[in-house]
Amino acid sequence: MTTTKKTPETLRSARWFAPDDLRSSGHRSRVMQMGYAPEDWVGKPVIAILNTWSDLNACHAHFKQRVEDVKRGVFQAGGFPVELPALSLSESAVKPTTMLYRNLLAMDVEELIRSHPIDGVVLMGGCDKTTPALLMGATSAGLPCLFVPAGPMLRGNFNGKILGSGSDAWKYWDERRAGTITDQEWLGVEQGIARSHGTCMTMGTASTMTAIAESIGMTLPGASSIPAADANHIRMAAASGRRAVEMVWEDLTPAKIQTRAAFENGIAVAMAMGCSTNAIIHVIAMARRAGVDIGLDDFEKASRKVPVIANVRPSGETYLMEDFFYAGGLPALMTRLGDHLHLDCLTVSGQTLGADIAGAKVHNDDVIRTLDNPIYAEGALAVLTGNLAPTGCVIKPSACEPRFLKHSGPALVFDDYPSMKAAVEDESLDVTADHVLILRNAGPQGGPGMPEWGMLPIPKKLVKQGVRDMVRLSDARMSGTSYGACILHVSPESYIGGPLALVRNGDLITLDVAARSIRLEVSDEEMAARRAALTPPPPRYERGYGWMFNRHVTQADKGCDFDYLQTDFGAPVGEPSIY
Ligand code: FES
Repeated sequence: MTTTKKTPETLRSARWFAPDDLRSSGHRSRVMQMGYAPEDWVGKPVIAILNTWSDLNACHAHFKQRVEDVKRGVFQAGGFPVELPALSLSESAVKPTTMLYRNLLAMDVEELIRSHPIDGVVLMGGCDKTTPALLMGATSAGLPCLFVPAGPMLRGNFNGKILGSGSDAWKYWDERRAGTITDQEWLGVEQGIARSHGTCMTMGTASTMTAIAESIGMTLPGASSIPAADANHIRMAAASGRRAVEMVWEDLTPAKIQTRAAFENGIAVAMAMGCSTNAIIHVIAMARRAGVDIGLDDFEKASRKVPVIANVRPSGETYLMEDFFYAGGLPALMTRLGDHLHLDCLTVSGQTLGADIAGAKVHNDDVIRTLDNPIYAEGALAVLTGNLAPTGCVIKPSACEPRFLKHSGPALVFDDYPSMKAAVEDESLDVTADHVLILRNAGPQGGPGMPEWGMLPIPKKLVKQGVRDMVRLSDARMSGTSYGACILHVSPESYIGGPLALVRNGDLITLDVAARSIRLEVSDEEMAARRAALTPPPPRYERGYGWMFNRHVTQADKGCDFDYLQTDFGAPVGEPSIY
């Protein structure tokens, strides 16, 4: 039931359209230029639909149609929908990495909302960085808004076998390198792994972040699990349009929804889902935009308490997001989390989270497990610290071979991706399965943009011996669809002189996940001597956006937002002048 707090006169858009002056007359005549009559907009909330569609974003290919469904909902509820295109970050197409541009999309969103005659917002995204970027920008803008997730694509298929996004690409590529599948079979994998619109259907970054968006209260209940190609997705889009109009009248802003407790719900759900490691960086950045100080400690605490109960690849062995939806989806999973959730949190539905998920049921106990029958007893992620990562690094224990959770091995170091890529294909490389492969200069500034390079390829020589996992260490990120004993996000990064820059080939690295520690077994004196001999690397950019990026991006443990975009950087930005 809508509780009216706003009146037509107090709508934000009325500042543009209502005054009897020359400037507002111009605004009205330009709307009429598009064929609208005053009956279309007077006294109605203007709902911006921020659409991250592009011809190069396959995950959002359906957004051209879906935006019409959102508009239908807005009209039904008595609003005036306007579509605004926003930067489309296609995870597969944008180089060097979409992470370089997450903050640019967030700025795009914030300023689009602020500068236009808008009362409420529907955010259309889903492909990896689009979800945090849209929410970060909209949170800073502060208007009532909700998120429409793109939805996962259908299961992949190849020769009668089910394929999972990313995960099976890595797996079958190694089989091709080992010579166990033919080029023709590889072509079959390429053709079958992405066979509908929608986002990656493993528990990669897309599914992780849309689930987090729902659990912090920013989507309609159940929205994040609906496959993109399902008719339910169309109905959800229209319902989101209707709800956006109501949210304007209720003045239900993100500040009323995105509390600390809401973000704790997001972290608990992330752990239960066997989330992508990228969740850490994005949730820290999103929370800080909401004025909530979430840090690595919050993930570490949740990781110790919340088991992985979503049996979805890559943490699980069999199922994909389509199976998760049929099993009841995220509302059903949340009914199993009991005391791990704050059920009194408000959501965009206008109800509490508890009311949103009441009545949800699990239809397949193997896909959505119970807390006492998890697929992994502790949470999906572990935060490690030590002399190699003073402000932390991350591993996904649920997706690596258990023998690597305690490991010591000699370092094999690469300073850049091209030399690493060439070396791992060289079958004379001096490497064993016990080595720790290291890639540096791949962090926020060094990458630049912290690319998803952290799942370093297993050297070909070892692949041919049957090795499929080994310890890998970097200041990069990795795709949420990746797996293996990959230690990521080492902070501070090597490019700015973090301790990873001091490692030399043959140094012993010791990893103990139970103790949450990672060490370079080199004396403090030797490390100090190596530091004194370091020469700073050349600048990555000397002009343009990259120049600004490298001056203002924060380290991984702080969320990689720009310092000046964080909420505590300065006074809030006011409404634009209209003269
Ligand atoms: Fe778009 Fe994976 S490439 S979600």
